[in-house]
Amino acid sequence: MIELGDPRQMLEWSQARRGEGKRVGFVATMGYLHEGHLRLIDRARERSDAVVVSVFVNPLQFGPTEDFARYPRDPDRDRLLAARRGADCLFVPDRAAMYPTEPLVRVEPGALATHLCGRVRPGHFAGVLTVVAKLFHMVEPDVAVFGRKDAQQAIIIQRMVTDLDFPVAIDVAPIVREADGLAMSSRNAYLSAEEREAAPALSRALDAAHAAFDGGERDAGRIVAAARSVLDAEHRLRLEYLEAVDPETLQPAAAVDARALVAVAAYGGETRLIDNVILGDGTAGDPRVRA
Ligand code: PAF
Repeated sequence: MIELGDPRQMLEWSQARRGEGKRVGFVATMGYLHEGHLRLIDRARERSDAVVVSVFVNPLQFGPTEDFARYPRDPDRDRLLAARRGADCLFVPDRAAMYPTEPLVRVEPGALATHLCGRVRPGHFAGVLTVVAKLFHMVEPDVAVFGRKDAQQAIIIQRMVTDLDFPVAIDVAPIVREADGLAMSSRNAYLSAEEREAAPALSRALDAAHAAFDGGERDAGRIVAAARSVLDAEHRLRLEYLEAVDPETLQPAAAVDARALVAVAAYGGETRLIDNVILGDGTAGDPRVRA
């Protein structure tokens, strides 16, 4: 695995691979890699011939009171895990390489960011889209794989690619869960033992929504109520939102006749956890892996 920090060298590397007739796959991360990221690498590998993994903790997507400074970082471990999982190139630009000057022009997500996480994290998705657009220019991937845990992010990135004609295919991979159902996230490292014990209530709540849907319930309010009753019983978590929305427009859904995204955000202590499930796409849930 080659490691690059310079955007120009990154682009040259990618263009050289394409010159050899290879498809370039891309996984963008903020590092502190876990099995969820490694599954994205597997998936990129299946869909391409040369896989680039980027690690960059993007200051633009953190609010002033959020966890940019203490976001977990472990570059040596990331390097080892990415190489072992078969990444061909690790792209680790530093802040000066990514933002040589303060970016005045940003990619604005529009109405899609007025729902769910966007409502409580102003500027977050503009920060994500701006860095992802820059990474797409630096890597020029044929396919980029994102995780469905950040469902709103994946939807907004797909929309950016469509609206702004980026020549890249977006692939969205299933959520990878711990054995007790907790969706894998770098931020899980912040959880105290007690918060960690409470955290799987999020996925149990989504299971309850799925069970209500499987039982024939189609009223979105009642599906959400089934999930909420699980969270109401877990006093160690503080609910931020729990909603059923259209998976493309993110508008609140009244009935789940076709597909719906049920998304939840809650705090365990100071740690913000998110999770979601798609109803109506014929799946029974997301794979559980052993940590
Ligand atoms: O999902 C993430 O880790 C980040 O939002 C991303 C896509 C790498 C952009 O910084």
